[in-house]
Amino acid sequence: MIENVHKLLAEAKAFEISNAEQLEAFRLNFIAKNGQVTALFKEFRNVPADQKKEFGAELNKLKQFAEDRFKATKEALEDAVDENQGGVDLTLPTIPNALGGRHPLTVVREQISDIFARIGFNISEGPEIEDDWHNFTALNFPENHPAREMQDTFFIEKNPDITLRTHTSSVQVRVMENEKPPIRTLSPGRVFRNEAISARAHCIFHQVEGLYIDKNVSFADLKQTLYYFVKELFGEQVKLRFRPSFFPFTEPSAEIDISCLLCKGDGCNVCKKTGWVEIGGAGMVDPNVLKNCGIDPEEYSGFAFGMGIERITMLKYQIKDLRLFTENDVRFLRQFKTIG
Ligand code: DAH
Repeated sequence: MIENVHKLLAEAKAFEISNAEQLEAFRLNFIAKNGQVTALFKEFRNVPADQKKEFGAELNKLKQFAEDRFKATKEALEDAVDENQGGVDLTLPTIPNALGGRHPLTVVREQISDIFARIGFNISEGPEIEDDWHNFTALNFPENHPAREMQDTFFIEKNPDITLRTHTSSVQVRVMENEKPPIRTLSPGRVFRNEAISARAHCIFHQVEGLYIDKNVSFADLKQTLYYFVKELFGEQVKLRFRPSFFPFTEPSAEIDISCLLCKGDGCNVCKKTGWVEIGGAGMVDPNVLKNCGIDPEEYSGFAFGMGIERITMLKYQIKDLRLFTENDVRFLRQFKTIG
């Protein structure tokens, strides 16, 4: 009789418990109402009277051992689970999540698009591989005119001339050919010029072209639109000026300058001590361009402008070297993650 108690105690000691299932098996075996320990308690009445005392004492020891072991092992297993989950202290900061960020040029392109969207400009796109008509001829660049050399073009094919577009002004031609005025559109995109890469120039860069065609559009509308734009993008303190210039596709034409944001107009290296930095060109769309695109210049007029996104981004975030945009150095890129 007593041997059964000892045997079960030995079993309870040897029982392997290293996970939740084994713990439950232990419970069913040694603690549950229909387990083996309870079964022994039921046998108590069959134990001869002179052995009852010892039997009872040993049985109680067994019961106590089973209960203690169950409790201690349960706690140990729960602690281990907590540790495996990396700790359950909900007040601790979360594990950092290395999410990517948008490229600074994308951030600024979207800022520009948003500012113009508020005054009714939509977005239009065109091909990066262009033909001569859309990149030059329709824009009033005469054949063999030196103006074509202002932009060092990458030709893919001569006769017919197929080029990598040198500016996004080609998109204004495509929009005017396909849509009826009023037109208010913004064309951001990549452009290509055969230039040596330096801190200030690259053979691939980004522009945004703006075009507004309607009845009675004037130079005053152009100025007011650009005033609004630069103040929205750079802040109230920025100044804007127009310098007379030449572009084949606009007449009159102007170069757009803003006051230098680094020295606030006092003169520094970035503005070459002038206090002003050029951000793009603009003008009233030349009547020849309107005609080339099937729009009657007697009925409609319009303005256009084109700006470099790299230049604007460099001014806005005080970036001194254009090459940083294409080097993919995460130490540079990471700084723009939270902007925009
Ligand atoms: N396409 C010119 C360039 O790449 C920029 C430009 C100047 C665009 C005047 C315009 C404009 O629309 O009116 O240098």
